[in-house]
Amino acid sequence: MKVCVLAGDGIGPEITAEALRVLEALRGDGLDIEFEHALIGGCAVDATGDPYPEATSKLAREADAILLGAVGGPKWDALPREQRPERGLLRIRSELGVFANLRPAILYPELANASSLKPEVVSGLDILIVRELTGDIYFGQPRGIEVRDTQWGEQRVGWNTMIYAEEEIRRIGRVAFEAARKRSKKLCSVDKMNVLECTQLWREVISDMAADYPDVELSHMLVDNAAMQLVKAPKQFDVVVTGNMFGDILSDEASMLTGSIGMLPSASLDADNKGLYEPSHGSAPDIAGQGVANPLATILSAAMMLRYSFGDEGAALRVENAVRKVLAQGYRTGDIFEPGTTRVGTRQMGDAVLAAL
Ligand code: IPM
Ligand code: MG
Repeated sequence: MKVCVLAGDGIGPEITAEALRVLEALRGDGLDIEFEHALIGGCAVDATGDPYPEATSKLAREADAILLGAVGGPKWDALPREQRPERGLLRIRSELGVFANLRPAILYPELANASSLKPEVVSGLDILIVRELTGDIYFGQPRGIEVRDTQWGEQRVGWNTMIYAEEEIRRIGRVAFEAARKRSKKLCSVDKMNVLECTQLWREVISDMAADYPDVELSHMLVDNAAMQLVKAPKQFDVVVTGNMFGDILSDEASMLTGSIGMLPSASLDADNKGLYEPSHGSAPDIAGQGVANPLATILSAAMMLRYSFGDEGAALRVENAVRKVLAQGYRTGDIFEPGTTRVGTRQMGDAVLAAL
């Protein structure tokens, strides 16, 4: 298997290094895996002027899977939109057609106190957010900023287009229904159908699909209510399916239920399970280069790669169990540290996972 490694910016290189050590350790056990490194995001802008250079695109297209760290940072904030590091991320998602973004939010029992919610509200939490990743207002045309005549006189207006085609909704719906089937058979679809036509269509299409999945209990929720319910009674959810924009917001919210966004992996899959794997968090420029970032979200993303792109459930479980073990042993990076546990840096956390493996 060929894995294209895109470490990116900020803490990206530190955390991907630990995930690669974990994958390399498994290589000894019969996993046939090769790595190729390329640039994406701000580092790619610095080197080539383009956040997603052609050389990177070629490697990504040829690879069986992609492991990505994180992109962005204040250094590139003033750049025009097309050159911003995030543009690189949006382009690779779109080019590879990885429309199904799986974001599990699991509360490890050892981290019950790291959550900002009461332990009884979050204990045992295990949610899967299925976020559509290549459509919606993120990519809809037309979009722009231009000077127009308005009721306040001539001034700049900014606009975007929220748009979904039926088939685009259906294919993410299928992923979500199938995932629900393998879990507790409950699916909640989140929209804003009381205001937005685009999401009214979303609700109609998802509702129509329910007939094909009689074993799955489908419910619908408006996004504002979903945001509230997620902090009020998060355990009512199992699989949640939603569009790109709402999924972006709700997955950040869900991540904090688990104590730290530093724990949350993600997989973005196309129709053939070719995947882009990245932690759900960003590049954390404030702690970059200090060796203190939590590598577990990236290590768990590598586990998702083993599961979905390599079809190696056994290896995926080994990595996930190793992560559980280091948490049980009391190792904590700063984001999940609490008195009585052992504070470790990025590399030491990687060492602990390797030892547990
Ligand atoms: C995410 C991030 C990205 C997104 C940004 C960095 C473009 O927030 O993966 O959730 O909005 O999709
Ligand atoms: Mg986000």
